[in-house]
Amino acid sequence: MAAPEISDTRFTLSQADIPSAWFNVAPHLSSPLDPPLHPVTREPVGPDDLAPLFAAELIGQEMSADPWIDIPGEVLDVLRLWRPTPLIRARRLEAALGTTARIYYKDESVSPAGSHKPNSAVPQAYYNAREGIARLATETGAGQWGTALAFACAQFGLECAVYMVRKSFEQKPYRKVIMETWGGSVVPSPIDDPDNAGSLGAAISDAVRDAVGREDTHYALGSVLNHVLLHQTVIGLEAQQQLTQAGETRPDVVIAPCGGGSNLGGVALPFLPDPAVRLLAAEPASCPTLTRGSYEYDFGDTAGLTPMMNMYTLGHDFMPPGIHAGGLRYHGDSPIISKLVHEGRMEAVAHRQKAVFEANVLFARVEGKLPAPEAGHGIASAIAEANDATAKDEERVILVNYCGHGLLDLSAYEDHLAGTLPEEP
Ligand SMILES: Cc1ncc(COP(=O)(O)O)c(C=O)c1O
Repeated sequence: MAAPEISDTRFTLSQADIPSAWFNVAPHLSSPLDPPLHPVTREPVGPDDLAPLFAAELIGQEMSADPWIDIPGEVLDVLRLWRPTPLIRARRLEAALGTTARIYYKDESVSPAGSHKPNSAVPQAYYNAREGIARLATETGAGQWGTALAFACAQFGLECAVYMVRKSFEQKPYRKVIMETWGGSVVPSPIDDPDNAGSLGAAISDAVRDAVGREDTHYALGSVLNHVLLHQTVIGLEAQQQLTQAGETRPDVVIAPCGGGSNLGGVALPFLPDPAVRLLAAEPASCPTLTRGSYEYDFGDTAGLTPMMNMYTLGHDFMPPGIHAGGLRYHGDSPIISKLVHEGRMEAVAHRQKAVFEANVLFARVEGKLPAPEAGHGIASAIAEANDATAKDEERVILVNYCGHGLLDLSAYEDHLAGTLPEEP
């Protein structure tokens, strides 16, 4: 009698398989990235210009051309609390769609903070603590990055000050409770304009002002910068091993939501050297940086305090509507991601909020997991790719990053289920 066919859904690695080095994409780019420019002189910034804000080791990583950068043992000790994360074959979603595609999702929601964000928060807190810094200041959109940094600071004995975009501060009150439980302090941003819903750009300005005003404080950014994408590459490196375990040679397309580009970079960049793998960014139609922005130098924040970067931007004073995917409400994008899109190596697509929640509800009903609003952008794209493959009768292998759970975003689901979710302009 033939052995029963086993339909594996979950591909897990042992803790010994956590990557011991981060993948640096710099040597794989078609040309070096354009340098960041000083906000006042407009001259290229050097390490000394960044020293008041960042740990020296992180500045080194930001500019490094080394193909691999070792992950310190102290960082791995913390990552081991939840890594490696599982890779799941979404067989129930495939069945619901009746697709010819195979859909895999990398589950970053299992981290303590519920998203991919601790992958960079932990090394950032570690390097700052090692260099004698006592306190980190940061911005947070949906609250995921602030939560992650509060957790990471608690691991290394640092204070953590979080400026949270006011709209999210009001939409997601329990994020504040988690951050405070880990010892962080949280205030709504912009701090000087209580009637303003806020934006990531404005919250960055608040956090940078805090950091430059205090000797004991550095700034930490949860996305956009090269070193943040670098730290996130553990996602794609693990997924490569897990896809092999699942019997796949390669994914045909790698998809992730994109706000500033960190979870997208993390899952996609290790696949960049393989030209047969398509890379796809999924963003909100109401903050369409990659699909409708222009590729030019702009500030990373609203007030014009940060270095200028060559990136896709909607303008640093762009005020996105208050959609529930607070982590995707950013006017700019990572210079690495922007360059790849500009050169046609990466594709980008925009989704409307209602379509994202329809995708999230389908995913929750068949796979059981309730996605963060940000994650739904990737899921909506994965479903569109699967339907396209079915229409063309193709066996497409789809890898999507499940960047966070939505268990603290229930007011968004409540609005969606009640039919009161406002459609963006
Ligand atoms: C769950 C989640 N996904 C995605 C993002 C977008 O950020 P990034 O593009 O850096 O991954 C955020 C940002 O806060 C987030 O919280």
